[in-house]
Amino acid sequence: MLTPNLSVNAQGHLCIGGADCVTLAEQHGTPLYVMDENMIRQNCRSYQDVLNSECSSGGLICYASKAFSCKEIYRIVDSEGLGTDVVSGGELYTALKAGMPAEKIVFHGNSKSNNELEFAVQSGVGRIVCDNLPELARLNAVAAAQGKVVSVMLRVKPGIDAHTHDFIQTGKIDSKFGFALETGEAEEAVLAATGYANLKLVGLHCHIGSQILDTEPFAEAARVMVRFMDSLREKHAIVLPELNLGGGPGIKYIEADDPKPFGEVIRAILKAMHETCVTLSYPEPFVLFEPGRSIVGGAGLTLYTVMAKKQIPNVRTYVLVDGGMNDNPRYALYQAEYTAVCANRADQPQTERVTLGGKCCESGDLLGENMPLQAVEPDDIVAVLTTGAYNYSMASHYNRNPNAEVVMVADGEPRTIIRRESYEDIIRNDV
Ligand code: LLP
Repeated sequence: MLTPNLSVNAQGHLCIGGADCVTLAEQHGTPLYVMDENMIRQNCRSYQDVLNSECSSGGLICYASKAFSCKEIYRIVDSEGLGTDVVSGGELYTALKAGMPAEKIVFHGNSKSNNELEFAVQSGVGRIVCDNLPELARLNAVAAAQGKVVSVMLRVKPGIDAHTHDFIQTGKIDSKFGFALETGEAEEAVLAATGYANLKLVGLHCHIGSQILDTEPFAEAARVMVRFMDSLREKHAIVLPELNLGGGPGIKYIEADDPKPFGEVIRAILKAMHETCVTLSYPEPFVLFEPGRSIVGGAGLTLYTVMAKKQIPNVRTYVLVDGGMNDNPRYALYQAEYTAVCANRADQPQTERVTLGGKCCESGDLLGENMPLQAVEPDDIVAVLTTGAYNYSMASHYNRNPNAEVVMVADGEPRTIIRRESYEDIIRNDV
């Protein structure tokens, strides 16, 4: 099985975290997102353990909640000692309502509205990561109006090509995010930030991309960032105490993926940071990481009911399910590959190659092509694995499909953490 929390029981049914997926589908309906709490907690701990044991200068793991945001996930990561990264007023609101302490929240965004900045300052979030010069001016004005001094970090593009899908590569110069190092923009932004009375520049941030399977791009980003911090000390006598190295560690979506264990990734980054600090005699910064996908991605799957099967001779076989790009747009957007299993025939061999088609009125509404699958029939339950990240959070109401329910399983016991939307929910704001 793709992840260690999946198994097949005596009935030949797929189980996640000890819960039978066929029973879950019967009891909660489909499409259904299922998340495994124990695995999420274990993932949090594998990050925390390395940070605690190998980072003498201290640090904070901030779960990147764009991967999956709802009240329960903030409660879980908070109880594991993590903070969170939010990227909108909506995520911030959800995190605060869940009881996440404001000082453990890092507020991101390349185009934050004035309302969002006011909300963040008023809530007392621990750090605001600024992306551009107009934002610095606006944030300073917002902070001044509230009589506060806010801690800010600056998002820097370290210019690292992390060899991932172009759409999700955010560390290069040609990116809408942050200030480029090479052009002198980042240095200018540091000087600008230190000139504002209501901003306290505490450090720098970078995020080089997502679903990165190698450790070296992360290590190189850490070196580049420490060298830049050192140059600020040399040229301007500015010593910044914090470094936020973003998220990005990849996970196993298909058998061919071979990600490094997250602990190993963090260890390699900390080592690169430490060595560079020693070489340059730079004081080791307090370090932040923002993993999203690697905390929740592998802990989730989505259950669908097969509605029809269309075998087009010499072309392909479509298996059509009751969800699609409205609950998982990642194949349509990035041709992201997934593994599928027939949950009620999980003990049978995968003898077919199918295209998993969704229910939306759009030819590109596919969940995958050329996917190995058991010989399924209508009314079977198909599980698409590893959907815990960037699925629910990227879901849409296309074709006015209501959002699916999310169930959290802990030690075999399921509980609903996000209710299924009703048609009434769909028209709630219609006038
Ligand atoms: N920090 C920052 C500033 C980020 O921009 C991101 C992701 C993360 C942390 C978390 O990265 P992770 O550890 O999850 O890789 N929708 C795309 C992924 C977009 C990621 C954007 N930023 C997908 O479905 O693959």
